[in-house]
Amino acid sequence: MEKKEDSNHIQHLIDYLWNRSAHQVVVLADANVQALYPHYLSPLAASFDCHTMVVPAGEASKTLDQAEKIWRELLDRQYGKDVVMVNFGGGMICDLGGFVAATYKRGVRCVNVPTTLLAMIDAAYGGKTGVDVDHVKNCVGVIRQPDLVVPADVAFLQTLPVEELKSGFGELVKYAVLFSENLFTELESMPALTAAQIRPEWIAKCVYFKESVVALDPEDRNERRVLNFGHTYGHAWESYCAALGRPVPHGVAVAIGMLYESRRLAQLGTMPQEDAQRIERLVRRHFNVPEWDETVMKQLNPYLFQDKKNEADKVVFVEIHRIGGLFYKEV
Ligand SMILES: NC(=O)c1ccc[n+]([C@@H]2O[C@H](COP(=O)([O-])OP(=O)(O)OC[C@H]3O[C@@H](n4cnc5c(N)ncnc54)[C@H](O)[C@@H]3O)[C@@H](O)[C@H]2O)c1
Repeated sequence: MEKKEDSNHIQHLIDYLWNRSAHQVVVLADANVQALYPHYLSPLAASFDCHTMVVPAGEASKTLDQAEKIWRELLDRQYGKDVVMVNFGGGMICDLGGFVAATYKRGVRCVNVPTTLLAMIDAAYGGKTGVDVDHVKNCVGVIRQPDLVVPADVAFLQTLPVEELKSGFGELVKYAVLFSENLFTELESMPALTAAQIRPEWIAKCVYFKESVVALDPEDRNERRVLNFGHTYGHAWESYCAALGRPVPHGVAVAIGMLYESRRLAQLGTMPQEDAQRIERLVRRHFNVPEWDETVMKQLNPYLFQDKKNEADKVVFVEIHRIGGLFYKEV
């Protein structure tokens, strides 16, 4: 299936590049996105010297090896500091392309064009870029804000595999839990998780929340850490499943992590039982939730202690007090 380019989104990008005197543009896409949408960014070629690089799809491409291949190709083609990288894809491409752009010639301009729900609401924003080393996710990277994120074109969601849609939905639930009870209530009344049910205004809200937190703490030292809600257990589950050779998408692991972290907060008396139960009901409606008995908990333990939020020997969890309890003006 091929999608016609969305003229508003592309025109926005062309105007942006044009107004900043860009003349050389390198599009980085993964093989799936390039095969599905070979002409989406074609209009760029009419205005700029445009070259497309394609990398294999999937997390396995988020490596230093892959970054080096791209650096070498940029160098072979004699791109200078004024080249603009356009990352066309999901979070993997935004992270990899953002990292290459942040480091090539000590930093060139970079634009994200997100094509997954997870990238539209989260990964394309905030400037965290990087690659994995062995099985350690995001082990090497830098924080460097993209020069532009092209606003979400929800038509991309029509071709997204259902597990990837769920993965983005997991992060969407997280933003609602953190920042907006209204959004949470709307998600509760969503009849089924399909691309058509994802409302553009939900995406815009998440982007607003993320950008608000990032503006307070771009370097991820204080306020931004709240975005890790669900990630302490979520990352442990993700690593444990990967080690068993049964990887789960990031946002799916986060959804499961949120359920268990909310239960924990309710047990500690930090969150009302009613709120933890609402989170549990919403997560269970859309995700297969594994039962974590004592044996599983023991197996997760080593992964919990690897979490980058930990201080000294203590596993650190994000503490929240109720659904939507962090105060940001609603958009
Ligand atoms: N930088 C950040 O702030 C941040 C935040 C969250 C996650 N991440 C990173 O993002 C990555 C996960 O991102 P993701 O979930 O978008 O995964 P992804 O980029 O690997 O994409 C998932 C799959 O969907 C395919 N795909 C992409 N768009 C499509 C479309 N429109 N139609 C059909 N298929 C499509 C891809 O080819 C891939 O196979 C991880 O590496 C994670 O560490 C980064």
